[in-house]
Amino acid sequence: MVDTHTFVPEAVEEIENEVGDANAVIALSGGVDSSVAAALAYEAIGDRLTPVYVDTGLMRKGETSQIRETFDYMESLRIVDAKDRFLEALSGVTDPEEKRAVIGEQFIREFEREATDADADYLVQGTIYPDRIESEGGIKSHHNVGGLPDVVDFEGIVEPVRDLYKDEVRDVARHLGLEEVVAERMPFPGPGLAVRVIGEVTEEKLEVARHACHVVEEELEEYEPWQALAAVIGKATGVKGDNRVHGWVVSVRSVESRDGMTARAQEIDWETLQRIQSRITGENDTVARVVYDVTHKPPATIEYE
Ligand code: XMP
Repeated sequence: MVDTHTFVPEAVEEIENEVGDANAVIALSGGVDSSVAAALAYEAIGDRLTPVYVDTGLMRKGETSQIRETFDYMESLRIVDAKDRFLEALSGVTDPEEKRAVIGEQFIREFEREATDADADYLVQGTIYPDRIESEGGIKSHHNVGGLPDVVDFEGIVEPVRDLYKDEVRDVARHLGLEEVVAERMPFPGPGLAVRVIGEVTEEKLEVARHACHVVEEELEEYEPWQALAAVIGKATGVKGDNRVHGWVVSVRSVESRDGMTARAQEIDWETLQRIQSRITGENDTVARVVYDVTHKPPATIEYE
């Protein structure tokens, strides 16, 4: 495990040395990795760091306001409302890797504009050890590795948590005094809810996935999952009131893992599963069914696309 007492000052010093008197930029995602990287970098260079949060419209419930609150102390924080541009770019795109590519490209466009505006020479990233391993292995195109460094002609890339596992990043977050909700927040994929709706990304599907993810995170908190989520996986027939409806099928998933590279589906008691089902179908008229995913990783992945 990382010794946070030595890690933090060393990381801050390393950032100071690397960036010198220049400006830097970081893309905040709302997750713990980029939050920690930003907090370390801000400690090192203050407002010469511009943290950029792009609201893609693919974020979890309450994520944008959480960011605003947590990083309120950074005067240089920029929040970009890009929801409409992302939805437009994703219109008609159904292939999972193409979806990731479109999101990555749109993200780069948004970020590039902000980085140029901030006159940034350095890019700070919250890349952690498992991200590097999976990307090098070509398992999935994580858009937070590769991509960004190539767009703006940065002088250098700074990755202060590159050798840490997720649980170590959480330790550092607590050490830095980041709010518990940030330190404990479940991992969330860069492409956001787009990989939790199968097929084309539409506002309706996103709304269902966002609400269902929120219910699942709330109801499964006591199980302390590595990650608990819900995905819109298709349509099926159901009965609402006196009518047969063709509604969304929502799949609920809860896994234990250390680093996301392998994972075990959690055993959840029937009563909790039923409560989740009843909230998701009851609070959302367009959902006809809720299923529970019992597949480990491998053979499945944690996310759906
Ligand atoms: P999978 O679905 O590949 O996910 O089993 C493993 C872990 O990585 C997260 N994930 C991503 N994180 N960008 C990210 O930053 C991505 O494109 C991405 N795809 C998956 C996923 O949520 C899980 O924690």
